[in-house]
Amino acid sequence: MIEARITGTGSFLPEKRLTNDDLARLVDTSDEWIVSRTGIRERRLLSPGEPPSRMGVAAAREALAAAGVAPQEVDLLIAATNVSEQPIPGTAPFIAAGLGLSQEPAFFDLKCGCAGFVYGLAFAAGAVAAGLARRALVVGIEALSRFTDWSDRRTCVLFGDGAGAVLVEASPGRAGVLGVSLHGDASKLGLLKLEAGGVRLPASQDTVRRGLHYLKMEGEGVFRSAVPMMERATREALAQAGLTPGEVDWLIPHQANLRIIRPLAARLGIPEARVVVNIDRVANTSTASIPIALDEWVRAGKIAPDQIVVLTAFGAGASYGTVVVRW
Ligand code: UT7
Repeated sequence: MIEARITGTGSFLPEKRLTNDDLARLVDTSDEWIVSRTGIRERRLLSPGEPPSRMGVAAAREALAAAGVAPQEVDLLIAATNVSEQPIPGTAPFIAAGLGLSQEPAFFDLKCGCAGFVYGLAFAAGAVAAGLARRALVVGIEALSRFTDWSDRRTCVLFGDGAGAVLVEASPGRAGVLGVSLHGDASKLGLLKLEAGGVRLPASQDTVRRGLHYLKMEGEGVFRSAVPMMERATREALAQAGLTPGEVDWLIPHQANLRIIRPLAARLGIPEARVVVNIDRVANTSTASIPIALDEWVRAGKIAPDQIVVLTAFGAGASYGTVVVRW
């Protein structure tokens, strides 16, 4: 067992809603197609001009308040995000500035596809257990609407914006991180990509003209890989914890597609009543999806002390992983 536990959760969703009917006015799609193929009914979008870090600051404030910890007590901040506030510096310093972290904690961005939050949680717990940090904030934050091609119906219906956060602290008791399994399959690095704007292909008039600053995805390839990846990581992390899928109280999968979540739960033999789903209301918020769903369930009082909670995700890279915690 890694002696670190989640002591507070928080989340933030932008106010602006975009329903499937709204999207049907932009591209050739329908509410029926989107709901039946993905489970998504609406998503939230960050308004133009609003800085994404604002969402991370709001989610982190909630997590700190829930834990009863002052921002000045944080000594590690991990911002899990695929596209940072700007190329240099990353999102973490913007969140630290927004929170007023005058104690100058360690902070960095973690870019790991939609699995970023799970990776961040695992490494934050490890850092706390090893004594490298006492209070670690992990913020999953994403505003992929800024990189969405609103004329491409294969991608624009899927994503939403948002942020979620957890505070991780040392845990001498039973509660804490019981198992971790993290993996990456680089043979699948082309499945999900945003090609321009980095060092390989800096932004130019040509890249903008060719739409290379938009997120591109081989939906079917992602679809086929996602379930076996999350199943493998979950079985490994549960085995490490000395648990079986039958002992899981809550499975919180990355909210990518209901048609990915359901077969995953079925293969693990976890009944749907124990699977956390909010994709209908928030869509796929990438790195933010798990902490947003976790916070929703915690605030609704659905997760009780001592329960076994499994967080599992996959994403670009392709990176995937699972963290098992006793609440
Ligand atoms: O966080 C990880 C990120 N990504 C994912 O998790 C995505 C994983 N993949 C998926 O969720 C699914 O592959 C999609 C939802 C993206 C697509 O569903 P699908 O059942 O695999 O559909 P498809 O790509 O096989 O397309 C079927 C048809 C195509 O039409 P034709 O070629 O058969 O005439 C598409 O052009 O559906 C069409 N289509 C749409 N129709 C209406 C694709 N997108 C839409 C749309 N509305 N939004």
